[in-house]
Amino acid sequence: MSFCLAACQPNGDTGRYDEVEKPTTSAALEWRSYLGDTGFSHASVLAQINTTNVGDLEEVWRFDAGGGADDGATQMQCSPIVVKGILYCTSPLLHVFALDAATGEQLWRFQPPADRGLLPNPNRGVVYWELSDNGDAALPKASYESQRILYTAGSFLYAINARTGRLIPSFGNNGKVDLHEGLPERFADATVIATTPGSVYENLLLIGSRVDEFRGAAPGHIRAFDIVTGALRWVFHTIPQPGEFGADSWPDGSLASAGGANSWAGIAIDEQRGLAFVPTGSPSFDFYGDDRHGDNLFANSLIALNAKTGERIWHYQFVRHDLWDRDLPSPPNLITLEYEGKEIPAVAQATKTGHLFVFHRETGAPVFPLYEEPVMGAGVAGEQPADSQPLPLRPPPFAQQKFLPTDRTPEMADAVQRRITDLDRGDTFMVPSTRGMVLYPGMDGGAEWGGAAYDAREQRLYINSNEVPYLLQLTAVPKDLGMGPQVGYLALCSGCHGADLKGDGVSVPGLLQLSDRLSPFEAYEIITRGRGRMPAFPAIPWYARAAILWYVFTADEPSEIEPDGEPAAAGETAYLNAGFQKLTDPEGLPASKPPWGSLTAIDLTRADILWKIPLGDYPVILKLGQSGYGAENYGGPVVTAGNLLFIAATPDQMIRAYDKHSGELLWQSKLPAAGFATPITYAVDGRQYIVVAAGGGKLGQASGSSYVAFALPEKMARLKPLVLDASD
Ligand code: HEC
Repeated sequence: MSFCLAACQPNGDTGRYDEVEKPTTSAALEWRSYLGDTGFSHASVLAQINTTNVGDLEEVWRFDAGGGADDGATQMQCSPIVVKGILYCTSPLLHVFALDAATGEQLWRFQPPADRGLLPNPNRGVVYWELSDNGDAALPKASYESQRILYTAGSFLYAINARTGRLIPSFGNNGKVDLHEGLPERFADATVIATTPGSVYENLLLIGSRVDEFRGAAPGHIRAFDIVTGALRWVFHTIPQPGEFGADSWPDGSLASAGGANSWAGIAIDEQRGLAFVPTGSPSFDFYGDDRHGDNLFANSLIALNAKTGERIWHYQFVRHDLWDRDLPSPPNLITLEYEGKEIPAVAQATKTGHLFVFHRETGAPVFPLYEEPVMGAGVAGEQPADSQPLPLRPPPFAQQKFLPTDRTPEMADAVQRRITDLDRGDTFMVPSTRGMVLYPGMDGGAEWGGAAYDAREQRLYINSNEVPYLLQLTAVPKDLGMGPQVGYLALCSGCHGADLKGDGVSVPGLLQLSDRLSPFEAYEIITRGRGRMPAFPAIPWYARAAILWYVFTADEPSEIEPDGEPAAAGETAYLNAGFQKLTDPEGLPASKPPWGSLTAIDLTRADILWKIPLGDYPVILKLGQSGYGAENYGGPVVTAGNLLFIAATPDQMIRAYDKHSGELLWQSKLPAAGFATPITYAVDGRQYIVVAAGGGKLGQASGSSYVAFALPEKMARLKPLVLDASD
């Protein structure tokens, strides 16, 4: 049931929007913003599909968004929105489209103009905005331009007419705004993109960014753009400027060149209080901080900002002077807790270490007690680690904390035991060394970008997690190499292509003037899956691949770098993380004891775990005729009033429904590719739908480009109301 053949023509507008639009639909029955609402609840009042009938779900439409590679080079992580019966999302190549949410029929498609930096970065969603009745009078309510889709592709934020799919010329520069806006001029060429959609507060779009994680990365300024005009309204410096609060948590003179501390997981908005909650990531460079001694505010922090002005209200730092890439990986959840008759407006933040922190939304005071966990080890020369890091006493961690070697088979146990003998392990915060350490949970969580679902009525939070170990090992490199992406090139590519990018003149091609021969995307595909005698590099994260490519594409001069120069003098050494390596057994499966991925229900009335189960499996485990080990997973859950929890996220290509009270598996269906994305649920014309993107392209899985919709058979759906009545 693909509509793609004709409909995948770019910029097609079928003119059917007006027929399909359902202006009177209630917002509560739809999914009008990313992850359900501005507090990222991932929750729905819909109960037509429930624990007794979920087994009857059937696939009702499938939409091929087109343009994906089939071999793992592209991803599609978009979690759609549905507004007035229209579903909006993106394709692997970052086209944005509108569909009839009941049938999957395409209404229009917008293809971003290719710019030289456009690599198909993962995109997790889009934003719908419409002029409110009391909004800016400069735009007449009747104007078609008053309904907008905002989304990013590469370094641009686009404003698109939600009814026609055309750019809105009065926004920014002919419909787009450059995400470098508001950053110092020096970063004009640095990677600045956004994987997560911005968040709407009144007529402002608040947006964070994805920057590369090497030295020289752009700083993570939070920007607010006027949705009507595209004008930049305010900037909050996540790396303070000299004289600003927090500047003294950096060494003198370092602020001008410091980068990172960017917010890539999503900004929650408390509309009633006018507050924005911004989770940030590590400062650059991630694993070695000799040029950033100090706590490095506001990296690895949750920052509460005045949404109107960008002024800081409070902040909490989770990791001081991060050396482990412990970005805050998940969108915060706005939650309301009831204790002893009192209502606490709170915000919950999950971490890569597998902990849930809960704060009072207005003051930032922790709701549950915290303690200080010591940082162990001295680290490499020049490093000055923090003494300790905060962790919550309650609720208990939702991911395993102690690395236990695999016991899958005696051979694997034995091999892993030998592999880890000389590695540091055992503590949550051990300073990275050249000896190497087991980072557990690994660099990709614990929690990840899917985030948690929150059931407000029962005060329960549902979260999936990764529980696999990574190897974190520093390699000494001469300091004069800098720590920019060229170091990645030198480490991974120069052995064949030459430090001067000229190849060997025989069998390895040079990479100078690459843009004459290849588009960035073509080059990205070659690095991702290899070609001929060129090896594949699937294990380094896409943004590191993109950063190295950026270096290759912009290096039009033979490199000035001399890697074979004099050995570096003492104090002239810097340290690089040798790889983004998972620690595996000889068969390529995680070196830790399963489960390797799990789904956990946390009861916040008791600040305790209600249930925890392994989530999904790796295809190779299933091929061995085994299951129940859990697998790494990407994409969050959705919780419904039908007492269900829907989640895809796993490499076995399944979407599953669980009983939210018990964690019992009630239904599953195989997707055309792994659903590394957060599903959604909504209703159109009395029928409840579940939709998920099946984009694959992670964890060694094939890519895909389909959105798949499930519902109860039509006759059954007609008999069952959408929501429970008050007496239920
Ligand atoms: C083991 C040697 C080796 C390594 C390491 C290597 N390459 Fe290659 N690369 C090759 C060979 C050989 C080719 C030609 C492939 C073919 O036959 O099509 C190639 C081709 C390419 C091409 C296509 C060039 C063209 O003109 O079509 C790009 C781009 C590229 N490599 C980038 C990289 C990058 C970036 C890295 C580091 C992440 C890297 N390579 C690491 C050997 C290597």
